[in-house]
Amino acid sequence: MTRSTPIKNLDPIFLERWSPRAFKKDPIPKEDLEAIFEAARWAPSCYNEQPWLFAYTQTQEGLKKFQSALVEFNQTWASNAPVLIIIFSKKTFDRNGKENQWAPFDTGAAWMSLAMQAHKLGYITHGMGGFDPKKAFEVAEIDPTKYDVLAVIALGRQGDKNCLPEDMQKGESPSDRKPLSSIMVEK
Ligand SMILES: Cc1cc2nc3c(=O)[nH]c(=O)nc-3n(C[C@H](O)[C@H](O)[C@H](O)COP(=O)(O)O)c2cc1C
Repeated sequence: MTRSTPIKNLDPIFLERWSPRAFKKDPIPKEDLEAIFEAARWAPSCYNEQPWLFAYTQTQEGLKKFQSALVEFNQTWASNAPVLIIIFSKKTFDRNGKENQWAPFDTGAAWMSLAMQAHKLGYITHGMGGFDPKKAFEVAEIDPTKYDVLAVIALGRQGDKNCLPEDMQKGESPSDRKPLSSIMVEK
C-alpha cells in the first residue's frame, strides 16, 4: 500500500518511514552511525536520567552472536542487516536508586529519535520483540539486575525484496494505521 493521510499539516517523514525486512549488507560509515545514536541521546527523559543503553555490533563475529538471540523468523531476514542493536533500559534512577517506572517510556522515545534520524540519512530500521531476553543479556554482556531488555533493532540500507523468502516478500510493504479518531480522544 501507499501511505496517505487527509491531515495536511503532517510532516511527510512520518508516512515515509516504515520497517522493511530486506536489507543490503553494506556497512554504515562511522559518522552516520554516530549521528543516528546522537539523535537518541537528545531524547527527553524523566529527570533527564537518559536510562537508555544501545548495545550495537557491526563485526561478523558480533553479528553472529546478536543474531543467535533472535527467534528463527527474525534470523531469516535480520541476518542481512549490517548493524544490530539491542536496546536496554536502566531499572533505577541514578539520582536515588529508586525504581524508574518511566525508563521504558523514555527509552522508547529515544528509539524513535534514532529511527527517524536513520530514515533522514537514507537508512531503514526494523524493531524486533522476537528474541530471547536471556541470550540478549549474555551476548551484549549487560547486567540483567540493573537493566531491562526492550527490543532488538536491525539497521542498514534497504535491499531488494528478492533477497527474502517468498512468503516474506508478500508482506514487504508499508502498513496502515487505525483511524486518528480512535486514538485522539477529547475529554
Ligand atoms: C517493539 C517492536 C517489536 C517488533 N517485533 C517484530 C518482530 O519480532 N519481527 C518483525 O518482523 N517485526 C517486528 N516489529 C515490526 C512491526 O511489526 C512494525 O513496526 C509494525 O507492523 C508497523 O509497521 P511499520 O514499522 O512498517 O510502520 C516490531 C516493532 C516494534 C516497534
